[in-house]
Amino acid sequence: MRTRLARRLRRSRRRARVLDASAEQLPFADETVDTVVSTLVLCTVDDPDPVLREIGRVLRPRGQLLFLEHVRSDSPRLAYWQDRLADPWRRFAEGCHCNRATLELIRASGLELEDVQDASWRRMPPIVRPLILGVATKSGI
Ligand SMILES: C[S@@+](CC[C@H](N)C(=O)[O-])C[C@H]1O[C@@H](n2cnc3c(N)ncnc32)[C@H](O)[C@@H]1O
Repeated sequence: MRTRLARRLRRSRRRARVLDASAEQLPFADETVDTVVSTLVLCTVDDPDPVLREIGRVLRPRGQLLFLEHVRSDSPRLAYWQDRLADPWRRFAEGCHCNRATLELIRASGLELEDVQDASWRRMPPIVRPLILGVATKSGI
């Protein structure tokens, strides 16, 4: 995806830079970022709590996290299989945690959930089908 992004940027007239950084240590000063976008990353980082803290640190007051993540199922039956298959799936999918309750983690981080939709990731194995899309806002003045 990084390669695609760099290619699109070269073709576009936008003034933007692609930076490589770990989500635990974003190279931005406190409260300087308007918007953070996370697509299918909070499932893969080792520990989402420090990453969410880091997002909260760099966002300006009223800044927004836009997210699209696959999550732990609300269905006990599917959640059971997500737990059972979490280890082999993590090895297969390069560190992805299929049973992570990411929405609850975002809520617990102190960001304010504003607009959350459930969706289904079609043509994927059931354990990674439950998706959430939404906006979480940093409280502000
Ligand atoms: C499932 S892929 C999603 C890629 C892309 N965002 C997308 O939507 O297709 C998970 C991504 O999380 C990245 N990732 C994992 N741990 C990370 C970390 N600690 N900091 C930054 N990125 C991380 C991986 O490099 C990988 O690109």
